[in-house]
Amino acid sequence: MKRVTVTSALPYANGPVHIGHLAGVYIPADIYVRYLRMKGVDVMFIGGSDEHGVPITIRARKEGCTPQDVVDRFHNMIKDGFKEFGISFDVYGRTTSATHHKFAADFFRKLYDDGKLTEESSKQYYDEEAKTFLADRYIVGECPHCHNEGAYGDQCEKCGTSLDPSELINPHSTISGSKPVLKETKNWYLPLGDYQEWLRKWILEGHKEWRSNVYGQCKSWLDLDLQPRAMTRDLDWGIPVPVEGAEGKVLYVWFDAPIGYISNTIDLCREQHDKWGDWETWWKDPETRIVHFIGKDNIVFHCIIFPSMLKAEGSFVLPDNVPANEFLNLEGDKISTSRDWAVWMNDYLRDFPGKQDVLRYVLTANAPETKDNDFTWKDFQNRNNNELVAVYGNFVNRALVLTQKYYEGVVPAAGTLTEADKQALDDMVAAEKEMDRLLDTFHFRDAQKEAMNIARIGNKYLADMEPWKLVKTDPERVKTIMYVALQITANLSIAMQPFLPFSTEHLRQMLRVTDAWKWADLGRTDLVTTGHQIGEVSLLFSKLEDADIQPQIDRLENKRKALAEAAAAEELKNFKPQTVKAEIQYDAFDKIDLRVGTVTACVKVPKADKLLQFTIDDGMGSRTIVSGIAQWYPEPEKLVGTQVCFVANLAPRKLKGIESQGMLLSTQDADGSICLVRPGTNVHNGVSIS
Ligand code: MF3
Ligand code: ZN
Repeated sequence: MKRVTVTSALPYANGPVHIGHLAGVYIPADIYVRYLRMKGVDVMFIGGSDEHGVPITIRARKEGCTPQDVVDRFHNMIKDGFKEFGISFDVYGRTTSATHHKFAADFFRKLYDDGKLTEESSKQYYDEEAKTFLADRYIVGECPHCHNEGAYGDQCEKCGTSLDPSELINPHSTISGSKPVLKETKNWYLPLGDYQEWLRKWILEGHKEWRSNVYGQCKSWLDLDLQPRAMTRDLDWGIPVPVEGAEGKVLYVWFDAPIGYISNTIDLCREQHDKWGDWETWWKDPETRIVHFIGKDNIVFHCIIFPSMLKAEGSFVLPDNVPANEFLNLEGDKISTSRDWAVWMNDYLRDFPGKQDVLRYVLTANAPETKDNDFTWKDFQNRNNNELVAVYGNFVNRALVLTQKYYEGVVPAAGTLTEADKQALDDMVAAEKEMDRLLDTFHFRDAQKEAMNIARIGNKYLADMEPWKLVKTDPERVKTIMYVALQITANLSIAMQPFLPFSTEHLRQMLRVTDAWKWADLGRTDLVTTGHQIGEVSLLFSKLEDADIQPQIDRLENKRKALAEAAAAEELKNFKPQTVKAEIQYDAFDKIDLRVGTVTACVKVPKADKLLQFTIDDGMGSRTIVSGIAQWYPEPEKLVGTQVCFVANLAPRKLKGIESQGMLLSTQDADGSICLVRPGTNVHNGVSIS
């Protein structure tokens, strides 16, 4: 292979980027690209904004601005954020660019002219008030599976099922709120079934090396009959369909967005032709490897639909690998842009200036490569303090500070290496070899672990050799030890570079090395040579105190409370009485003996957070009733003296060793809150209820 084209999913420019995006797509892509560059591979790293799609128009409507205003704002914010975070794109374009509009339209037109698209009429929902067809997210209704009332026309976010608008129960328009009508409309479809056999061979037989989550998802799609997929939509925001009689229609966002990778390449090659050459080499030369970095929700688009489009067009190279990640959660809950449950990249950059590498490190150490994973601020702090500071930073600091102290910063000459010296260097080389294998197969998490291992090897070496003791008795030997430690330090600055570019830069400055080392230099034991003067030393990482992360934890705690309150309010608003139980006869009711009594004592049941133990004067004596309502009565002693209603003839039952003689009557509202039922006026204890 002569070159590698690396793409990373184009984020929708309708909101900021969060740690889930970073961990899932941009950090792994950036690590891979930096690694390839260090190996001297010809690589292009493509990113950009996905600026079409219904969510963007919905946001614009909500904010009373144009979709263009929305994408302008977020495109620039995201682009600047990525730059500051060290995601080293070669190009960061946008799908509203003139190049892209023309290229995507031409691509569609070629498929149309070659007879690769079918024209089909279908009934789609139409909003008669707003005079527009309602695609995907413009329509909401009740999910036929979980009965969530806020399901979208393309997906229910509660149960995750993908939907067709026609499946929604009680659909309504998100634009006018009105009930939509079905209206005939014409769209152009890509008959995916035509590519099914070819896809099966290409992926299921030809790419068994793909990650099992990716391969598995492809297999479950390909085991079903692929249906024709509409490549156009009745919307006004997007790329106009370049066909006669298609007024008011635009290209489906998932048709145009992946083509954006190519359009962005075209722009880069035009602007810097000397450096990048013709764009076709990056997309059409069989000697080019294409790798797509994406999140798991993008798998079908990158593995089934986009490849079918490329195959239909006929002149493009297909992706060689699609290393998709699973999802990252935040403090135990699913990250959500709409619920603002996220750590935003731009907020992080503001709150932790200069600490890009810490987040890069933590997100890679926890990367959701094989399963969903969780980000917590506590783990962030611990990994910074126990790994970056205590292992990597500590080793480097010792090696450099002792060199300054003993030799005024001049690299000493090594004598004959002992077995221990050779062992440390051999261990280092073994870790580096392992890194190669892991990086080549997209195992970034383990690769970073191996890099950290080199620092551990260095730390252990210095701890075992104790140069600070030996320096008084055997200064000659200490020269060799420090020489070895400095070579390990220099190796670390290569091994860590794809992961932690900012601290690598810092370390190189301290080593006073300006010429860029290549990946192939790893393992060399003469990276810093005898007589070389190192620079000034300062700490590579600094400790994070509890106070540093507490504001972040507090913000999320408050957010969690607000979300729970909002969810409860929503439940109350949507309250619908349960359907009435099957009919009974009077004598069935008459068997239940309901009475009134007065609470004479009420205490929490020890070791049972839900239970309260009531003592009740029932007019005939005293009885005990245990009830699971403690959450709703945090001050149980205040219930003493009040009257309650209860079932008097229920068979007794033991709860936590206490015999409960009856059951209190209560209501439970839609938000779950429980309230005791009481008589409307004070009555005698023991009075019957009927
Ligand atoms: N905007 C999409 C998302 O965030 C990703 C688009 S990737 C591309 O899920 F291939 F279409 F560019
Ligand atoms: Zn559902």
